[in-house]
Amino acid sequence: MANRFAQAALLAALAAGSAAFAQDTQAVSRGLAVYENNCAGCHSVESNRVGPKHVGIVGRKAGSIKDFSYSAALKKSELVWSPNLLVRWLTDPEQVIPGQAMGFRLGNVQDRMDVVAYLATLKVVPLK
Ligand code: HEC
Repeated sequence: MANRFAQAALLAALAAGSAAFAQDTQAVSRGLAVYENNCAGCHSVESNRVGPKHVGIVGRKAGSIKDFSYSAALKKSELVWSPNLLVRWLTDPEQVIPGQAMGFRLGNVQDRMDVVAYLATLKVVPLK
């Protein structure tokens, strides 16, 4: 009896989990498109360009890519990039770190959420 109940609960949890995962996958693929259209002019995942590389960005200390020359403000900020902080940064970087040097804002809230979902997948440099 208890077992059957546990099994039903597990199946329900798995079903709910896979629905959430399907939504995430869509956010990530939309986010990749947002990235290519809005960020790739200045950034790439695996190498520094106008802006620093993004590999491992979620959980990374702000301003910590050794061979990128950051603004003094970003370098000394002591922040760690969480998904929330990234959304705020993309809304208005100057409000998060006054004196920073990224002259870009992402105006659309859905685009911000989606691109951060994509950024969160960048644990390692993707294979090409
Ligand atoms: C016009 C060029 C430009 C565009 C477009 C741009 N960035 Fe940036 N980005 C920069 C520069 C330059 C910096 C470094 C700022 C500094 O040193 O203060 C930066 C820094 C960052 C950082 C901090 C990284 C770190 O190592 O601490 C993040 C995160 C970031 N950008 C995300 C994005 C995302 C996501 C997009 C697209 C939605 C984007 N940027 C679009 C130029 C750009």
